[in-house]
Amino acid sequence: QDATIQLTDHLAIPAIGLGTWPMEGDEAYDAVLRAIDKGYRHIDTATNYNNEDAVGRAIVDTDTDRDDLWVTSKFNRDGHGRDEVKQAYAASLQRMGLDYLDSYLVHWPNPDQHKFVAACEGLQELVDDGKLRSWGVSNFKPAHLDAVYAAGLTPVMNQVQIDPHHLQPAQLAHNAKYELITAAYSPLGRAGEFLDDPAVTTLAEAYDKTPAQIVLRWHLDSGRIAVPKSADDTRQRQNLEVFDFHLTPAEVAAIDALDTGAGPRLDADEFGH
Ligand code: A2P
Repeated sequence: QDATIQLTDHLAIPAIGLGTWPMEGDEAYDAVLRAIDKGYRHIDTATNYNNEDAVGRAIVDTDTDRDDLWVTSKFNRDGHGRDEVKQAYAASLQRMGLDYLDSYLVHWPNPDQHKFVAACEGLQELVDDGKLRSWGVSNFKPAHLDAVYAAGLTPVMNQVQIDPHHLQPAQLAHNAKYELITAAYSPLGRAGEFLDDPAVTTLAEAYDKTPAQIVLRWHLDSGRIAVPKSADDTRQRQNLEVFDFHLTPAEVAAIDALDTGAGPRLDADEFGH
């Protein structure tokens, strides 16, 4: 089924998830509840988003079984370290009111390489102990990934900022080298101006889809999963209605060509929660 992607550890992750930043409180609660009602089965949050409580409450309150949902969170740098990450995980679960997460990610590699590798070891132990289904990383540049793999550790995904203006081909190639699934955050470039670009709008007309749907399909046809944020019912629905068409390789390449060569908005060597 097109709507899920197989991770290296053989878990299947729904290819479109609901991004929840920067929603908080009741806005986040309502958005997650409405998204699950529409058929979203993958919700993405982070301790740093300040909404784990509201997101968790919606997941608990929905009629959909917890086991039918994929829930990802990410921890801050005070969770870097083998024991620290276990405390961070327990705290995330408590805030969310959940018994387990489907994936827990190192949000940023900073500030200290040795400690983020230790955090990855702690995450692997949580998986081995049956407390967490999978673990991954976010904002990891090639050198950070190399440090993790050199320690014999294998995350299931790297969640990075990718959109048609920020393609980061070297980063994508490095993820692919490790057979690591790329999850795109801000996959619509926060409703970036490329949604009006003729390269996108021409395809939207041809497929009778919206520009945002074309961009999401571009992610999927490139082998990435994506976590678009929307608080709006129409756009939430749109972002999920991307499984009834495909782009050709030439059409994917035409959107790739919109890349400006800019790196991500925030550089992992200079920034980190
Ligand atoms: P809204 O929440 O009002 O729908 P990203 O996930 O790339 O950061 O993009 C999120 C931004 O894009 C939000 O401002 C969101 O606004 C908007 N957005 C989400 N889905 C769509 C869509 N299908 N078409 C246009 N804008 C969208």
